[in-house]
Amino acid sequence: MGLLDGKIALVTGAGGGIGKEEALALAKEGASLVVNDLGGAVDGSGAGKKMADVVVEEIIANGGNAIANYESVATMAGGQAMVKAALDKYGKLDILINNAGILRDKTLVNMTEAEWDEVIAVHLKGTFSVSQAAVMHMKPRGEGGRIINTSSSSGLLGNFGQSNYGAAKAGIFGFTRVLSIELKKYGITVNAISPGALTRMTENLNRKGKAPRTESEEAAGHPKHIAPVAVFLASDLAKDITGKVFGVSGLKVNEYKMIRNKGAEKQSGHWTAREIADQISEIISQ
Ligand code: NAI
Repeated sequence: MGLLDGKIALVTGAGGGIGKEEALALAKEGASLVVNDLGGAVDGSGAGKKMADVVVEEIIANGGNAIANYESVATMAGGQAMVKAALDKYGKLDILINNAGILRDKTLVNMTEAEWDEVIAVHLKGTFSVSQAAVMHMKPRGEGGRIINTSSSSGLLGNFGQSNYGAAKAGIFGFTRVLSIELKKYGITVNAISPGALTRMTENLNRKGKAPRTESEEAAGHPKHIAPVAVFLASDLAKDITGKVFGVSGLKVNEYKMIRNKGAEKQSGHWTAREIADQISEIISQ
């Protein structure tokens, strides 16, 4: 008995890295898959069928069910087509993992409009486009559902040279929170994972002048460590968990939260700038 027997799952960007491991793990627990991947490079250029096809072959070789889809998440038509692929093949969709992503890192003054737009389109609009198509099916079907988005510490905490990516990933946090509230009464949970893993996206980041990684570092950073949290969130084990963001890196799992601290409050009148300065340690403290 698998945790996901009879379930249908769509994983975007599942042709490699974290998405591939998530798709393999869902299939291992009995889910039938739509493996979506545009098949391009890390910066989103190019396209091809091979990446998705290889993962489909692996799932089928392991005794599972899977079909490939090569649409881009960055258009509404792409999102609709991949959900339609699930419905045409399997008749329903229970689980959506929004994982597809690209990087175009630049500091603000060096960033082109295209570098901004492309990253926002794949991550933020892509999460919207596929989620909307999925919910248009899940909501009237009335049997709940699972949406698992992919955020990043680059947006939740901030990271140098990634204002486009960080804005998109923080946007996905807000999107997750809002959708979890909108969809709670329909039994559709919406959570996010903020992963840390060595994939083609991250393996060369900050590596200039450093020694090659050891085998144990490679093993510790393997993207397969992200998948158990995705399986958990996709399963009935997490039916009451929604609106949460799970940090997952190696063997560490934690929660990211937005907090509002106690702050300071005046009893009457209005604040002056100088009074804010005087009480700043209270206002911006934990
Ligand atoms: P990856 O580059 O191996 O995987 C991303 C996949 O998305 C690729 O297979 C790519 O072909 C696909 N893709 C790109 N644009 C697409 C589009 N328009 N439509 C459909 N598929 C598309 O990188 P990785 O690391 O596995 O990334 C997966 C997700 O995790 C991304 O959203 C990334 O931003 C996020 N992430 C990864 C971290 C890490 O440490 N690896 C850290 C934080 C977030």
